[in-house]
Amino acid sequence: MTKVGIDKISFYVPKHYIALSTLAEKQGIDPEKYSRGIGQNKIAMPSHDEDVVTLAAEAAAKIVAEEDAAKIDTVLFATESGIDQSKAAGVYVHELLKLPQRCRVVELKHACYSGTAALQLACGHVTRKPDRKVLVIASDVSRYDLASPAEATQGCGAVAMLVSANPRLLEIEATSGCHTEDIMDFWRPNYRKTPLVDGKFSTIKYLNALSGSWEDYAQQGGRDFNEMAQFCYHLPFTMMGVKAHRKLSSINKAQNDQGLIEPGMIYNREVGNCYAASLYLSLASMLDNMDADLSGRPVGLFSYGSGAVAEFFTAVVQPGYRDRLFREHHRSLLEDRTALSYEDYEAMWHTPDPQDGTSHIMPNAARGQFRLTHIDEHKRHYAAA
Ligand code: CAA
Repeated sequence: MTKVGIDKISFYVPKHYIALSTLAEKQGIDPEKYSRGIGQNKIAMPSHDEDVVTLAAEAAAKIVAEEDAAKIDTVLFATESGIDQSKAAGVYVHELLKLPQRCRVVELKHACYSGTAALQLACGHVTRKPDRKVLVIASDVSRYDLASPAEATQGCGAVAMLVSANPRLLEIEATSGCHTEDIMDFWRPNYRKTPLVDGKFSTIKYLNALSGSWEDYAQQGGRDFNEMAQFCYHLPFTMMGVKAHRKLSSINKAQNDQGLIEPGMIYNREVGNCYAASLYLSLASMLDNMDADLSGRPVGLFSYGSGAVAEFFTAVVQPGYRDRLFREHHRSLLEDRTALSYEDYEAMWHTPDPQDGTSHIMPNAARGQFRLTHIDEHKRHYAAA
């Protein structure tokens, strides 16, 4: 059977962030609660001319070379912070990237799980049509109420992946284990801008879903825990990944080796939660930061979306993968950023929202090539620099 999987992966984060030490100072609490307790350093913040569309277009532009564009017949856009209840955000990205019109574009939602749903659907499509490619983009802005316990776990970012036959980075293996359970741990009714979250309950359910997914994975004839060279988890905050790996190691009566997860947490610690993109940011982090050569080795991936749907699956790293990474680009995106004061962060948090249809021009603050220029008559307008 033809191998299918990820041929290229790239992410994008905006240039602004608030340090969690700044947030802790404002809140009058010990900054170690954030650096050690939840394992996060920074919250990436979009400016008013950035949203899930511009973040996605920036991430995807890096991997959509001319030779690929003609073969892309499907764009799958995964998000839970979409900008319209009807029109798919990916259509704006399709236009910004000048992709062929002979293409289907769909938005997928299931909390933070939708990126994995998109990846699995893309692999299925390419298995049937091996001469085609699918552009999978996971893009989210994670925003909680100011002064709520979840505020420190905000963030934003987008990850784009090109899914193809005979991929040069990662083969996605067909065996996977799933777990679905109807729960209210995190949700956002249509009339709300920020989610409602039962934080402690959500962390318990995440770990339960990990057990359920692993059990199913094992029953489907999956690989042994000890075969995995690395593990990447959905990371709402990196301490969640630490707890997840402790649990999975214990289920498998294996040593809890933090070295198996650390490379996959480096980027997420500096970005914060980016919901559907978080697992794939962890994957990019692991590939970019792992010293040892992973060629031919399987890695374990765990995806969790509140509500709740979860999946454990594996990817086999392909020989020569290191030449296909955008390591230097990714590192410079994270290093070349501007810290916000608490006051500037609060101003940026309040996104303009002209619900009466009046015109609103966005100040030019994005560092990338794509911007949300204005909203007029309820329509969002984007432009490339
Ligand atoms: N030094 C070191 N550690 C400290 C500390 C200090 N001074 N002060 C506190 N801590 C530790 C605590 O001991 C605690 O550690 P444990 O969890 O190991 O006990 C940790 O810091 C967090 O502190 P609190 O227990 O006081 O928790 P909190 O009130 O800050 O809330 C939270 C934490 C529930 C995760 C909250 O941030 C939240 O609701 N986040 C959003 C929901 C979320 O991310 N859930 C994850 C699972 S759901 C999911 O994955 C989907 C998704 O993306 C949303």
